[in-house]
Amino acid sequence: MPENRVWITDVCPRDGFQIEPEFVSTEIKVKVIDALSAAGSAAIEVTSFVHPKAVPQMADAEEVMLNIKRNPGTSYEVLIPNLRGAERALRTNPNQLNLVVSASESHNRSNLRRGTFDTLNDFVEVPKLASSAGVLVQGGVATAFGCPFEGEVPVSRVLDVIHRYLEMGVDTIKLADTTGMANPEQVRNMIREVKNRWPELRIHLHFHNTRGMGLANVYAAYLEGVRHFDASLGGIGGCPFAPGASGNICTEDTVNMFHDMKIVTGVDLDQLLAASGRLEKQLGHSVPSQVLKAGKTLDLHSQPQF
Ligand code: COA
Ligand code: ZN
Repeated sequence: MPENRVWITDVCPRDGFQIEPEFVSTEIKVKVIDALSAAGSAAIEVTSFVHPKAVPQMADAEEVMLNIKRNPGTSYEVLIPNLRGAERALRTNPNQLNLVVSASESHNRSNLRRGTFDTLNDFVEVPKLASSAGVLVQGGVATAFGCPFEGEVPVSRVLDVIHRYLEMGVDTIKLADTTGMANPEQVRNMIREVKNRWPELRIHLHFHNTRGMGLANVYAAYLEGVRHFDASLGGIGGCPFAPGASGNICTEDTVNMFHDMKIVTGVDLDQLLAASGRLEKQLGHSVPSQVLKAGKTLDLHSQPQF
């Protein structure tokens, strides 16, 4: 079993901001990302190089990448929907490109306007381009645990997508529960299936808390040996092309859980909570974070006097 250490990628600046109804200014985006770097985030998904008409919040991708402060301990990653996006991203000095395709055909058509395997074919050149620039590539599989249009997604379909990614030479794989349909037993079975076929493959997981199962899924995956997770500051987020999408698992709730279990995250929880408190003001609305409301587990209260 791997060590008691996990690596959390904060996807708030991408998955979180992409669904905000009001445009989040470039200045605020940069401030939030710099705060995540200062708090010791292992990785940050900074933005996405998608078509600005598809996701107007990400229209400033280049500007954000060029204005953030880079912490040498943090990996700065970007989401990529096609070759064109990868070419744009590689001009902005990312550490990793996070490719995305949906395991279910209908979600991929709604999200990327083509079939799953057409998108994968379009990605073939990306690992070559990236490796010549010294940039890592992660193959992301959206709707891996269920699709809002099709329901159950066969595990064999997820394995086929992973196989295609590995053929083209990606470094790691991310399985995403785009609309919070996964349950802990399903997560355990999925990881076992993937590990059975590719025992050395590093799996990264992306959960949404849409139905309250987010942290249960994280723990199920942890017990199966997974050590890499996405989470979002404040717990904001969701796919604009998936009906009923809602927030990612919340970074500070996830970090609080791991710290309570004496599992190292490398993240400063107090700094994260301060950033989450500021985020509510920056966005002008409250965020789903539980620990921001309740305080850390061992934040004690003075006993009422009778
Ligand atoms: N960035 C900027 N422009 C892009 C682009 C990208 N990544 N990909 C394509 N374009 C441009 C093309 O150059 C072309 O421009 P032109 O008409 O001036 O020649 C135009 O967009 C149409 O290209 P096409 O390949 O037909 O794209 P499309 O319209 O079918 O859109 C995607 C495909 C993938 C770019 C678009 O659906 C998209 O950005 N989806 C992202 C969805 C998303 O972010 N979801 C949430 C995260 S999972
Ligand atoms: Zn997501």
